[in-house]
Amino acid sequence: MKALVTGAAGFIGSTLATALTSAGAQVIGLDAFTDYYGREIKERNLASLVGLPNFDLVEGSLQATPLEPLLDGVTHIFHLAAQPGVRGSWGTQFQTYTSHNIAATQRLLEAVKDRSLTRFVYASSSSVYGDVASIPMREDGFVQPVSPYGVTKLAAEHLCHLYHASDGVPVVSLRFFTVYGPRQRPDMGFHRFIRAALLGQPITLFGDGEQTRDFTYVDDVVGATRAAGDRGRPGRVYNIGGGSRVTVNEVLDLVGRVTGRSLNIRRQPAERGDMRDTFADTTRAEQDLGFRPTMSVKEGLERESEWLAGTLDLSVQ
Ligand code: NAD
Ligand code: UGA
Repeated sequence: MKALVTGAAGFIGSTLATALTSAGAQVIGLDAFTDYYGREIKERNLASLVGLPNFDLVEGSLQATPLEPLLDGVTHIFHLAAQPGVRGSWGTQFQTYTSHNIAATQRLLEAVKDRSLTRFVYASSSSVYGDVASIPMREDGFVQPVSPYGVTKLAAEHLCHLYHASDGVPVVSLRFFTVYGPRQRPDMGFHRFIRAALLGQPITLFGDGEQTRDFTYVDDVVGATRAAGDRGRPGRVYNIGGGSRVTVNEVLDLVGRVTGRSLNIRRQPAERGDMRDTFADTTRAEQDLGFRPTMSVKEGLERESEWLAGTLDLSVQ
């Protein structure tokens, strides 16, 4: 395998690139080091990759980097680069989302459309579903995003499907459900909760805390992504979820127990763009990819907590 991983310095991209290089693949990592969160965090994500004989880092954006030279001999593309984050995608920020999520994806698809690839795996999102989907969410169910971010992830998913239908690009889209674990982005719930608990700072809770998520451990997501690169059916979309539906209140209870701290919770109104509930039906991924999530939320949270405790002295973010 010679793989191009876009977004390779990010949370999931760096974890995927590490798994691929460990398995012997040649990996080119493309990343623009966008300012959504600190560059030093992304450099730390890459620390064990830089210098490996089978890893090359290219710093640049999908919108501006000449892609042809990067694609030479590439068999697999794992397209994870995006502007993430649901709640910040309103207002003037939307332009950043359309550029990194839609325009960048279209440019990449144009660059690969006449090449012979084995697979092009696109990191889509549970946020495409919105609040009208029935629970558990099925890939053939109705989608109507409730955040501008979700709209851009869905638009890019449609572009992927379009280039599959019109040019035969072997695209497989994976709808990841709220991913957590070591290296999780600093804007995300688990990261913010654990950090605040460990530092004795207040925790902001959006809404009543009874919203639910199908939290998915990063190694399970990476396993599914690799399986999609292997045997995902081109043109298909797969839900990738962690296998349990948990309220944010339950998460906070676990955070208190795992860190051994009492939490100082400050309530704020529910945020615009947040879905109320997510829960994945993963039957299709199980059938085609052999996907089965393995990590319990409690153990996964313990692992994220251990990782985060080890980074706090570096005073990042
Ligand atoms: P992340 O921000 O940690 O990683 C994304 C990386 O992409 C960053 O390092 C960023 O610098 C890079 N990037 C952004 N735009 C780029 C561009 N135009 N060109 C080159 N590089 C660019 O985010 P993450 O949480 O690791 O998410 C990875 C992917 O998975 C994203 O596509 C995201 O939408 C999707 N996803 C994430 C989650 C989750 O819970 N983390 C859930 C569903 C879907
Ligand atoms: C996450 C990612 O951030 C998106 O990039 C991704 O596309 C999406 O999952 C997805 O699954 O598609 P989100 O579910 O909002 O989005 O993940 P968290 O930031 O971990 O939030 C989980 C819950 O905790 C939300 O209900 C949120 O409102 C709540 N929360 C989060 C708080 O109450 N306080 C906080 O400080 C942070």
